[in-house]
Amino acid sequence: MINVTKTYLPDFDQYVSYLKKIWDNGILTNNGPLARELEKGLKEYLGVEYLSFCGNGTIVLQMALKLLDEPGEIITTPFSYVATTNVVLWENCQPVFVDIDPKTYCINSELIEAAITERTRAILATHVYGNACDVEAIEKIAKKHNLIVIYDGAHAFGANFNDRSLLSYGDFATCSFHATKLFHTVEGGAIVTNNSKWDEKLHLMRAFGHRGDDYYFVGINGKNSEMHAAMGLCNLPLVSQLIAARKAVCDLYTELLDWNHLQAPEWVIGLERNYAYYPVVFESEAKMLAVRDVLNQNDIVPRRYFYPSLNKLPFLNATESCPVSESISPRVVCLPLHAELPHEDVRRIAALINQNL
Ligand SMILES: Cc1ncc(COP(=O)(O)O)c(C=O)c1O
Repeated sequence: MINVTKTYLPDFDQYVSYLKKIWDNGILTNNGPLARELEKGLKEYLGVEYLSFCGNGTIVLQMALKLLDEPGEIITTPFSYVATTNVVLWENCQPVFVDIDPKTYCINSELIEAAITERTRAILATHVYGNACDVEAIEKIAKKHNLIVIYDGAHAFGANFNDRSLLSYGDFATCSFHATKLFHTVEGGAIVTNNSKWDEKLHLMRAFGHRGDDYYFVGINGKNSEMHAAMGLCNLPLVSQLIAARKAVCDLYTELLDWNHLQAPEWVIGLERNYAYYPVVFESEAKMLAVRDVLNQNDIVPRRYFYPSLNKLPFLNATESCPVSESISPRVVCLPLHAELPHEDVRRIAALINQNL
């Protein structure tokens, strides 16, 4: 079976050597030495000052929204994983969907201002597939209207824009370290901010909002364990190697696929890609489903990602129309991609797709 992804597992003995440290000191969680070491390593790798290592890529979005002064409307993208919308609803805010750019598949910054009302509190945009949102335009709009910018950077780890980590943009940028991601801690996530006060608050918030006997505000359990941090410490030094191996797979797909009948996002100028995903958009949903069937019959499992367009979620009564997202969502799949995917498998997948277009 060739799945859309395969979790990278580091050297077993190295992981066990970290476990040995945990067994020796008896500290399993609550901001232990490995979690602190990973946090430091992540800050160095990303070149950011403030970062909090947390339980997953969803809780960190909730924590960012929790820092808003009051709930309200959140301008967001319809083309993302459902978590991006769920957190808005979970935090009793109202998602306001703004369509995506037909080239980058990230939120269309030119449509944002028209969606701002006096109830708008923040812009929550996703760096889709590790592509960069229009960070400069979004920052200008946010400054003008006094809005907070939160980037869902679940896909953005290892991607740089204009020589800075993509995660360094915005008031907050979150990341997922789920086992399906190019850098993972089994389950995990992080939140980056540019503000020391927010960083302090986020560290406190992920630990129930209290320090010892001093209780400051409503917090949550957003922290992560030493076992998860150990996985991160094993994987972090391998990130550039993993990205290079993924690039080779992506380059081969790009060379082999029939672009007369397929479309892909345009990666923005100034982006140093992380090769986190390999999305392809078919001419029609019927064509995509037919090709997916053929791949499935050959034990190859691409993933519909993202589908549906989030403004069409059945539990929402969203009235916004997002024609670009609604057109791409039913036609897109992500092809199998991981650092260890044999190139002969890539050739076979590309041939099967081309034969059935
Ligand atoms: C865009 C996006 N946001 C948020 C998440 C949630 O991350 P996690 O699974 O770590 O909670 C994901 C997960 O894949 C995602 O793709």
